[in-house]
Amino acid sequence: MLLSMRQVLDEAAKGGYGVGAFNVNNLEQIQAIMEAARATKSPVIIQASRGARAYANDRFLYHIMIAATEIYPEIPTVLHLDHGNGFDTCKSAIDTGFTSVMMDGSLMPDGKTPSTFEYNVDVTRKVVEAAHAKGVTVEGEIGVLGGIEDGHGAGGTGLEHVTDPEQAAKFVELTGVDALAIAIGTSHGAYKFSRKPDGAVLKMDRLIEIHNRLPKVHLVMHGSSSVPQDLQDIINKYGGKLRPTWGVPVEEIQLGIRNGVRKVNVDTDNRLAITGAIRKVFAESPEKFDPRDYLKPAREAMQKVVALRMTQFGQAGHAGDYEALPLAAMADRYAQPVA
Ligand code: G3H
Ligand code: 13P
Ligand code: ZN
Repeated sequence: MLLSMRQVLDEAAKGGYGVGAFNVNNLEQIQAIMEAARATKSPVIIQASRGARAYANDRFLYHIMIAATEIYPEIPTVLHLDHGNGFDTCKSAIDTGFTSVMMDGSLMPDGKTPSTFEYNVDVTRKVVEAAHAKGVTVEGEIGVLGGIEDGHGAGGTGLEHVTDPEQAAKFVELTGVDALAIAIGTSHGAYKFSRKPDGAVLKMDRLIEIHNRLPKVHLVMHGSSSVPQDLQDIINKYGGKLRPTWGVPVEEIQLGIRNGVRKVNVDTDNRLAITGAIRKVFAESPEKFDPRDYLKPAREAMQKVVALRMTQFGQAGHAGDYEALPLAAMADRYAQPVA
């Protein structure tokens, strides 16, 4: 059974750890995450973007995820929609069987134009109503990520629309979201920073202010790949052309986790690991043409990255802490008057 993200994040808050949310598009990525979860005894959040849904088809994604829950029954597993861009996208994910959705109303449906606060509240509240009636979790976003490399971002450096703590508090109150994505200078993709980030470009002080203002809210860090040098080096060694770049250092993410961050979004690091492994096989064994000869090392490389992040974020060892609640029980809980 897939469980709600709210339950996983509530447990993470109790235990004081963060949970990686890893993007997937195919079978091998799901296998890599589930194997890493089993090896480290971790609860997992697996997320699919609109692009992933279009690439793989919802029915394939959903049924592979159900297979994952059958093969790995000991792992609490969430299926989450990453960066939903409107009510209908979120609704179709809920109808498919996603147990959590992100309504990213910080941007207009085009995924790049910053929206108004009123638009964001309105669309997010509608999604919360529809989702909570089914026990499904909702992540909202306030403030806007920078970059546009992987879609979903307003461009720029990421510092133009950093989250305002008071606005964040108002947003949570008006929408009833379960988790809140904030903007603190990160962006999606490999090219986040042109040097190792310090407080001038990565606003951890702002994150701490938001946590102090909203100590009970589960915060989400998007654009949290660390873009490790060793993964960049493998790609470039085997014919790739990555420009020098820096991601979010793991110790900054760990500081975030000590200050209310419960969900940490990682996609790019896995893309790098997969690409490096495939390039290596192509360069060293150009005679090979069986896809398993390069997809297997690619899957193993991703599994290694995911297992490391699970350990670094602190979710390792927590898979057996709790029993999954059915979505119907979550729906009942949302229906109770707030104490
Ligand atoms: O939000 C960005 C994630 O890395 C997903 O990227 O939209 O290219 O699937 P995507
Ligand atoms: P990265 O591009 O840093 O991996 O971020 C992924 C993300 O935020 C997905 O929503
Ligand atoms: Zn994101």
